Amino acid sequence: MRSPQPHRSGGDTQQHFQSTVSVQKLKRFNSLILVFRFAAFCFSLASAVFMLTNSRGSDSLHWYNFDAFRYVVAANAIVAIYSLFEMAASVWEISRNATLFPEICQVWFDFGHDQVFAYLLLSANTAGTELARTLKDTCTDNKAFCVQSDIAIVLGFAGNWTRMSKEASNGDHNSAAKAPPTPSPLRFSKFFQSNMRILITGGAGFIGSHLVDRLMENEKNEVIVADNYFTGSKDNLKKWIGHPRFELIRHDVTEPLLVEVDQIYHLACPASPIFYKYNPVKTIKTNVIGTLNMLGLAKRVGARILLTSTSEVYGDPLIHPQNESYWGNVNPIGVRSCYDEGKRVAETLMFDYHRQHGIEIRIARIFNTYGPRMNIDDGRVVSNFIAQAIRNEPLTVQAPGTQTRSFCYVSDMVSKKLSGALNDGRRFKLS
Ligand SMILES: NC(=O)c1ccc[n+]([C@@H]2O[C@H](COP(=O)([O-])OP(=O)(O)OC[C@H]3O[C@@H](n4cnc5c(N)ncnc54)[C@H](O)[C@@H]3O)[C@@H](O)[C@H]2O)c1
Repeated sequence: MRSPQPHRSGGDTQQHFQSTVSVQKLKRFNSLILVFRFAAFCFSLASAVFMLTNSRGSDSLHWYNFDAFRYVVAANAIVAIYSLFEMAASVWEISRNATLFPEICQVWFDFGHDQVFAYLLLSANTAGTELARTLKDTCTDNKAFCVQSDIAIVLGFAGNWTRMSKEASNGDHNSAAKAPPTPSPLRFSKFFQSNMRILITGGAGFIGSHLVDRLMENEKNEVIVADNYFTGSKDNLKKWIGHPRFELIRHDVTEPLLVEVDQIYHLACPASPIFYKYNPVKTIKTNVIGTLNMLGLAKRVGARILLTSTSEVYGDPLIHPQNESYWGNVNPIGVRSCYDEGKRVAETLMFDYHRQHGIEIRIARIFNTYGPRMNIDDGRVVSNFIAQAIRNEPLTVQAPGTQTRSFCYVSDMVSKKLSGALNDGRRFKLS
């Protein structure tokens, strides 16, 4: 018998700590810290070099003849070396969108010791200033120490101020997200890291079956398809039926599904207007209840989840081309609303589960996709043109004839957009 399936991460081979602030805020915050650390590095290095090189002729006294000045050089050198290490950590954090330590230690790492170093420089400079005063005839640069002390303290306080503003932004629950569900310790074992159990809802459909083909190419993947065959067909998957790494379940996503998986590709939903308008109540149930069920599953097993959304979330857009910051112009009571609004609610649920429960999510807003296994009767432009061409009929262009569409070939959609989306390091992504 197979042992129970532990929760496993995506393709990441290394686990990074994640902050509770949003990815963009974390990036901005880490960049600001990098600037502070760079300033601290330049400043302490310059001070140390200045002390080491500043002598007044061979017979005059040197810095190393005085304890206090030796202390100043040592304090600056320590801060310079440590700042260098911290800069490398910042660059790593920015590139990975992650934090080096769990959040509570991270605050200490970011700022606690900055304060300690500020006071180290302050005490060294106080000692230096005091000594410089007693050496009035020999040394007239005593003000330099005061300036350096002031800058050190300002940098320390600037760090603390940034920390406070970060904490304030954490209180903003619009952008904050919980940490992901705690994975099983087995997740990090070698065997489970390299093997992935993947659920694809709607996997018997057009895009879903191509996604199955793609994911089955990797022999470390086990693929489970759950489909009610409303618009999909077993025929699309016939080459995999009976394969030891493949399982096909007749299941309607409006009912809960209990399986142990690491990743969920949630595609189940009729995509063609002919089919989604055929039973609009069922369509909206599939989008809302189906997505809730899949998110519940993702939460229970700690799986990452991808939703295939649609360009139709923009409705009748007023901006061309649409970018992700455009929120759309959607009719909530029209005959297409079961699909448009259903997908919009599904996106909302994805983000709410992400913020409230820390689920790692991806959303792909797909535009017109075409290719083999498309349903010839689905009423969309590419299948219409091809069907008419095969029948030697004139191609119908709907009025006014000026409309534009973007098209993507299904293998590009699956290979570039979908199949790798759950394996990159981001906690949520909209594309
Ligand atoms: N094809 C496109 O151009 C396009 C564009 C935008 C978005 N999308 C999205 O991509 C996804 C897949 O689209 P497609 O073109 O492969 O459509 P499709 O109709 O070929 O596939 C959908 C699959 O979901 C299954 N399904 C429907 N309702 C279900 C339910 N309640 N429970 C279980 N299974 C159910 C169907 O049987 C079918 O196998 C959909 O979510 C769709 O909204 C597709």
